[in-house]
Amino acid sequence: MLVRSPKFDFSNVRPHWAPCWEFAQRYNAGSTVPAHIEPYLVKVMVKAKAALDPKNTELHRDLGIFIKQEMQHCKMHIAFNKKLHESGYEGMIPFEEAYAAEYNGFLESRSLRFNLAYSEGFEAMSSIAVTAFFEHFDEFLKGADPEAVELWKWHLAEEYEHRTVAHDVYHALSGMNPIFTYFYRLYGFFYAVRHISQHTDRLAAYLMAKDREGMTPEQINESKAREAAAAKALKKSAWAHLASIVSPFYKPAKRPAPRGVVLFLMKYVNVPQAA
Ligand SMILES: [Fe+2]
Ligand SMILES: [Fe+2]
Repeated sequence: MLVRSPKFDFSNVRPHWAPCWEFAQRYNAGSTVPAHIEPYLVKVMVKAKAALDPKNTELHRDLGIFIKQEMQHCKMHIAFNKKLHESGYEGMIPFEEAYAAEYNGFLESRSLRFNLAYSEGFEAMSSIAVTAFFEHFDEFLKGADPEAVELWKWHLAEEYEHRTVAHDVYHALSGMNPIFTYFYRLYGFFYAVRHISQHTDRLAAYLMAKDREGMTPEQINESKAREAAAAKALKKSAWAHLASIVSPFYKPAKRPAPRGVVLFLMKYVNVPQAA
């Protein structure tokens, strides 16, 4: 695991950065997730680090890298999202503010165990997007703005790289027997899936509605068909990942690397590490 600090220039990136703009808007909604969840993950993991046995040196080291990687991810997504806000989608901001407030609520009122289970749930969920971007989205990424594609691929490749950390921390600190630890992990996973999906669905609905203003009913139907095709591509690997995640024997360490992930990360080997 490495902390990489690539520099992206989003000044020329367009909100409709992919030829299928419904696909781009779905991921523009998705880009608000890391902007708000990852600062929350960092705070959760800082608390976890303080609670973790100092003898667990390997996990302490990995947590340190995890925290720095997530900080880089959210920084880049915030810059990308700013460009969206400035491009006529400032209506995203109230949705994002409400979503961010929910994370502050989790930090203030929920247990460390809940926050760790939620964090692990999000990390497990990300496996679906990693596989989709590297293996199932070729038709949607053809002809897309390279900065947007690069942002997602860099981020998701690092999500693959640090896939074990939240899982290991949750198991180290759950404080429960293995059976309760398993069921509570599932609770965290399904809670995260529902919470995050509700946010992205609301935001995607806003973006789509804005873009469909002034369209004829026929154009709207065509647009909805394209949106459905993009959603179908994401679901291609979702069931396989879901079956693995809900298994009591789920081990993210054993998750095979999607096609091209390892090679992709090698591109960034020489990028200076963050301080
Ligand atoms: Fe991330
Ligand atoms: Fe992550």
